[in-house]
Amino acid sequence: MSLNDVARALVAPGKGILAADESGGTIKKRFDTIGCDSTEDRRRAYREMLFTTKGADEFVSGVILFDETIRQNASDGRPLPKILEEQGIIPGIKVDKGAVTLAKSPNEKVTDGLDGLRDRLIEYRGLGAKFAKWRAVIDIADGIPTQYCLKVNAHALARYAALCQEEDIVPIVEPEVLMDGDHSIERCYEVTTATLHTVFNELYKQRVALDGMLLKPNMVIPGKKNSSYPAKPELIAERTVACFRNVVPAEVPGIVFLSGGQGDEEASANLSAMNKLGPHPWQLSFSYGRALQAPSLKAWKGDDANIAAGQSAYLHRAHMNGLARSGEYTATADAGLCVLVGVTHDDSAESASKLASKVANLRIFDGEQSLLDVGGAALVVSQFTLYGDTTRGRRPSWIAAARPEQAEPLVDAFVDALRTLGVRVEAGRFGANMQVALVNDGPVTLMLEA
Ligand code: 13P
Repeated sequence: MSLNDVARALVAPGKGILAADESGGTIKKRFDTIGCDSTEDRRRAYREMLFTTKGADEFVSGVILFDETIRQNASDGRPLPKILEEQGIIPGIKVDKGAVTLAKSPNEKVTDGLDGLRDRLIEYRGLGAKFAKWRAVIDIADGIPTQYCLKVNAHALARYAALCQEEDIVPIVEPEVLMDGDHSIERCYEVTTATLHTVFNELYKQRVALDGMLLKPNMVIPGKKNSSYPAKPELIAERTVACFRNVVPAEVPGIVFLSGGQGDEEASANLSAMNKLGPHPWQLSFSYGRALQAPSLKAWKGDDANIAAGQSAYLHRAHMNGLARSGEYTATADAGLCVLVGVTHDDSAESASKLASKVANLRIFDGEQSLLDVGGAALVVSQFTLYGDTTRGRRPSWIAAARPEQAEPLVDAFVDALRTLGVRVEAGRFGANMQVALVNDGPVTLMLEA
């Protein structure tokens, strides 16, 4: 496969990249949040859980690995990169050595790792890596970033990218403008424009083939400490696409965003809003770390007994971002419940509101969260057939089901009670012959009696 073939496969429709390349320090920070010691065995177990998730290959085109991970074997002895390859998922490798203080500008950073890079790339290629990643960090604050910082980081990114292409490895070029500050979305727009302009200037000068690379940038978004954060997905989408149309050549096959501290649903919603504005000259996709892994890490808790829960949480996020690739993600496509409601003779307004409270507060989502905790939606469908009695004969009896005059106001009361509790509700029309499509993800089906 040519560099362009690999780059295009990484941004194939409906798919994106999992960034699982946390360095030793970063993965320790993540494990600390779930009270798990960062030992080599736990790191391997965690990554093995992600990489063996059945069905993830439908939404995940490639995985970025850390140096330790690309050399590790799964519990059955197979090398971890091989496990990915066997599912058609392309293994990649982080090759930078982290950001260090920039000489003569103590509040800025430059990324290390060019020394010996050519030899390391040859070795990684032998271990199965077909693409690589190098991250430069640009901070926004009073008086920074300086032109000096943009220039040295862009120079290093271009040197790395050219070396990768010589070794037949697709470079992912990642200049990340951080979202930690209190800056506005307009300031992020200006800095991201200046950064990308400097980066593409260097890539051009250093002869990097633009059709054989991917860009991994931040979205144009207000700083987390700015009062306008979080901004609406439509605004982020409009500013980000406007910025990129100005500075990213159409020859680049894809832009794979980092999540950079956005919430998982936020990152899906923002990407989806951008794709809704398409078609664009490049594929707009994801290369998320935290936004793909956070719920999975929380469900796993460092314990192998929770592998199924961890995998289901990861698959769900991958699926949601797969939908975002074509602008089809909406919050209601995320966590939620389909509630089929049957009413019997002795039901009352009181039983309707008791049932609503039960449904809203049941701890059945990942991490023992309720529908209210996850901000999920409920699709409520009235279904008198739930009270069908099949104990006698071959014809079900509907005697136990309440008449429509009694049932309809009680279903309405149930919907109102859910809404009052703060649940988003979609309800069908009472008595209508509805076509309900249900993805039973879990699968979990519960019967609740009021
Ligand atoms: P986040 O999505 O957590 O920002 O990680 C992506 C990444 O690889 C940063 O270098």
